[in-house]
Amino acid sequence: MFNVIIFGPPGSGKGTQSERIIEKYTLKHLSTGELLRVEKNSGSALGNQVASMIDHGELVPDELVQKMVEATVVKGKDSSGFIFDGFPRTTNQAKWLEDILHGIGSDTHVLLSLEVDEEELINRLTLRGIAAGRNDDKSRAVVENRLAVYQNQTMPVIEFYKKLGKYHRIDGMGSLDEVFGRICEVIDEKSLQ
Ligand code: AP5
Ligand code: MG
Repeated sequence: MFNVIIFGPPGSGKGTQSERIIEKYTLKHLSTGELLRVEKNSGSALGNQVASMIDHGELVPDELVQKMVEATVVKGKDSSGFIFDGFPRTTNQAKWLEDILHGIGSDTHVLLSLEVDEEELINRLTLRGIAAGRNDDKSRAVVENRLAVYQNQTMPVIEFYKKLGKYHRIDGMGSLDEVFGRICEVIDEKSLQ
């Protein structure tokens, strides 16, 4: 298995680049944001529980997200690997993920951290808020809260992976092709090791 974490603030391109990565490297895409939105839109008990947290840009409790991730990882344990998008988002989630992967005889191979200027992040999310149906893009206050939650609760995950020697910074500014090229350089180097 080859497991990649794609990391970065809201609007940094995690989902967009994941689509390209899974096509080129035949990995399974595990986006906790997407899984949660499916639950929310289905009106399930879990969906109703998390709807307001997502719409306000707050993190859903670790245990709820971990349950969803565990089910997907166990189901895909014989696959060529995962791209984790939007997970882990707290240091607790990161420790938990390492344990789960070790439990199936695997590991995280690399964390790719997309770095994009704040002004550009706000532009991208605002544009999508006008064009598409994500509630959490539609209000400037919610977008700003998502960025603050990233700073306060999610950025510490970087230190965790730096200590493991798995952190790689990716310049997330520029065209989709330019960013993808930078990502492929790192994945190619790591997958040959
Ligand atoms: P999630 O769905 O993960 O959202 P997010 O992190 O806020 O990030 P986005 O999906 O908005 O951005 P992205 O980095 O994927 O960028 P994208 O490619 O879409 O999480 C949503 C919510 O779910 C959270 O707030 C939380 O409530 C909950 N949640 C999820 N995971 C959780 C967890 N682990 N624990 C607890 N709660 C959790 O690109 C954005 C836009 O920019 C697109 O329109 C795209 O076309 C455009 N774009 C991309 N790249 C470029 C480029 N290079 N140039 C110009 N435009 C670009
Ligand atoms: Mg996304």
